[in-house]
Amino acid sequence: MAESVITVQGLVKRYGDLTAVDHIDFEVYRGEVFSMLGPNGAGKTTTVEIMECLRTKTEGDVTILGMDIERKVRDIKKRIGVLPQDFNAFDLLTVKENIEYFGGMFKHQLPADDLIETVNLGEKRDVYFKNLSGGLKQRVGVAISMVNDPDIIFLDEPTTGLDPVARREVWEVIKDLKSKGKTIILTTHYMEEAEVLSDRVGIIDRGKFITMGSPNDIIDRYGTGTTMIVRGGDDTALQRLQGLSSKVERKGNDIVVRLDSKDVLPEAIMRIHEEGVHYEEVQMRRSTLEDVFLTLTGKRLENGEEVKKGKRVKK
Ligand SMILES: Nc1ncnc2c1ncn2[C@@H]1O[C@H](COP(=O)(O)OP(=O)(O)OP(=O)(O)O)[C@@H](O)[C@H]1O
Ligand SMILES: [Mg+2]
Repeated sequence: MAESVITVQGLVKRYGDLTAVDHIDFEVYRGEVFSMLGPNGAGKTTTVEIMECLRTKTEGDVTILGMDIERKVRDIKKRIGVLPQDFNAFDLLTVKENIEYFGGMFKHQLPADDLIETVNLGEKRDVYFKNLSGGLKQRVGVAISMVNDPDIIFLDEPTTGLDPVARREVWEVIKDLKSKGKTIILTTHYMEEAEVLSDRVGIIDRGKFITMGSPNDIIDRYGTGTTMIVRGGDDTALQRLQGLSSKVERKGNDIVVRLDSKDVLPEAIMRIHEEGVHYEEVQMRRSTLEDVFLTLTGKRLENGEEVKKGKRVKK
């Protein structure tokens, strides 16, 4: 049996009339990456900051490493590491000086040079924080979150606002932490990030988990089957495919067809592989967490904002 290191039961957080976290239950097991995936305002930061003993709960029970979050604050803080959302360090301290500064807050701290190595920042050791790119700043943040050699690390949107290359570099650091046996709680609104990094994902919307499980299980349970993408498909191709499935969409030069079953694939190919129908190539794609989110909520997510039929959804 996997060892549970976090238990959350019936957790509620109200801010005045707003219920930001609405009776949620979950467990996190030792050594796993558990992600909370959801749009802006879903309640991710509120939930993680309650676990980090930084915010108070309204109702419910939370234990970290078997310790109650209200009664064992000091003991818990020694054993956890935190990368807050919108993390910032001291502009006029170098990478190494920043890590040492934050390390000074703990009785037991890891050597700054070891942490610099872990996040692969050797070349930037003596560079001022203010002169680092966004991705490198986040890696300093991850190093600082590990300064007390914690068992559990909370990373609140570690890659938001980063370009795709910098994001992938942070992913590598997170994979590395996992391989060292750390338990990681990650929040994100990037579907792909949750899919690539997580052992288990809880999809959260408006303070409630809509579903939870491994990315593969969730996709198997709620995925929309197989998606066929017809690159450069013309309007004739579109019409032929519309006769086959009701879930056909034009996206720029491409046609996207959601197939309920793989069995209809030969028929789909036949319909476009005829004289007078033009397309460049056909690609197949399995459902992703993004498709699942769309199925379960009727909404897409773009940079953390819900998008419904091309319009931003106001909360
Ligand atoms: N201190 C606060 N006082 C009042 N309302 C708050 C406070 N903190 C958060 N909220 C509200 O609670 C809800 C959940 O916010 P929270 O920051 O937990 O969401 P989130 O999932 O982390 O969003 P994001 O992706 O934008 O970081 C939001 O509607 C937010 O406006
Ligand atoms: Mg947040």
